[in-house]
Amino acid sequence: MKKERFLLVGGGGRESAFALRLTDDASVSAFVTHRNPTIAECVERTEGVLQVGDVRDAEAVARFARAHAVDYAFVSADDPLAHGVVDALIGAGIRTIGATRDAARIEWDKIYAMRLMQEAAPEFTPGHAVVQAPAELAEALGRFRELGQEVVVKPQGLTGGKGVKVMPEHLADYAACEEYARQLFAQRPDEQVLLVEKLNGVEFTIMGLTDGRSLVLPPACYDYPFRYENDTGPGTGGMGCFTAAGKKLPFLSDSDIRDCETIMRLVLARMASEGRRFNGVLNGGFFKTPKGIRFMEFNSRFGDPEGLNILTILKSPFSGLLESLWAGRLSERKAEFIEKASVIKYLVAGEYPAASPETRDFRIDVAAIRASSVNVFFGACEHLGGDRYRTLGSSRVLALGATAADIPTASDRVNAAIDRHVKGDLEYRRDIGSQADIDRLQERIAPAQQAAEPDPS
Ligand code: GLY
Repeated sequence: MKKERFLLVGGGGRESAFALRLTDDASVSAFVTHRNPTIAECVERTEGVLQVGDVRDAEAVARFARAHAVDYAFVSADDPLAHGVVDALIGAGIRTIGATRDAARIEWDKIYAMRLMQEAAPEFTPGHAVVQAPAELAEALGRFRELGQEVVVKPQGLTGGKGVKVMPEHLADYAACEEYARQLFAQRPDEQVLLVEKLNGVEFTIMGLTDGRSLVLPPACYDYPFRYENDTGPGTGGMGCFTAAGKKLPFLSDSDIRDCETIMRLVLARMASEGRRFNGVLNGGFFKTPKGIRFMEFNSRFGDPEGLNILTILKSPFSGLLESLWAGRLSERKAEFIEKASVIKYLVAGEYPAASPETRDFRIDVAAIRASSVNVFFGACEHLGGDRYRTLGSSRVLALGATAADIPTASDRVNAAIDRHVKGDLEYRRDIGSQADIDRLQERIAPAQQAAEPDPS
């Protein structure tokens, strides 16, 4: 039987996960930021074509897709989505799965997303203020101060997960919030700034698969954005994450999952009523708080690394799922997930999320890691030959992931694989998915559960 030819766009660990899953039964071609070792291997193995280029250059990606007559394209990376790569591919007649630039606005414009939520599901929307100019900052921050609310300062546009700053972890007080917001106005004069009430509770994501009408919810995912153990240090694109065996995380209830589904359905309906076709992954970022579920942000793509968890536990063929998303036939397809916990951890250079002054060479025994049923997803690095690799740029270098009956066991398996088989000057967080960390999350959410279930006595 002829294998369908799929095009991927991007070059991180997330796109490595797509490539690995597609090789099950499809041919993989890729337009990539650099010669990512996992993607290059998958392309070679399935006789596809690899092109290194600017993944934000929508016309170049569309020309490549046409020249190599791909059957489907899947775009799920921040920069290509924000630069209209899906629109260019659709314009070139390619069957494309992913949000158009207009639909991806839900991600690249945080102020648009908050307004959409306020209109579609106000009861789940946190307190917020849109600040149009520096002169409005003092008054807007004064309102949060009067309510005794700490603040999160968000740039309007994309910053690769590194622009959002939280009080008091990153910004000591209201004066520091004002100072940071002023810097954002100076750096990005065309943008506004979003101030949001800081929510108490635990953050999580659900990456809904949608053809614009039907919605399939994979298991919820918990992400570790902070750079260092015990959630200290600067925010990053994500140092790792976990899913539990089943849809819920240890601190969520069935009704929490239902609330998230309600929010996502309301938002999809609202977007449809605005004429925005949403196709692909509606990635909801939520908070479990003492007052219930609250919205945090939307992404129009699989998270990285959250998508690595979901692709690892997806039981159904990924190619078939993508085809049904494109055809608007998701309601006819059963998307199933294995009932196991999964843990992913990224390895990074010591300076990350700051840029590294120089590259680093490291060694990794990929065959030994795979033999221990741990997955390897390369990101910002190149293969030098044999077991030798070199870091590239300032992004996350590679991720390892494992599944197990429970989260701490999966976490231990990843730690053991890194300790035994990765040699070099790279760092990672051992605490991701540890029992101690899960206990800490449960403790943080305990007041919320008590508030939701009052003592009957
Ligand atoms: N891990 C966060 C993101 O992909 O946006």
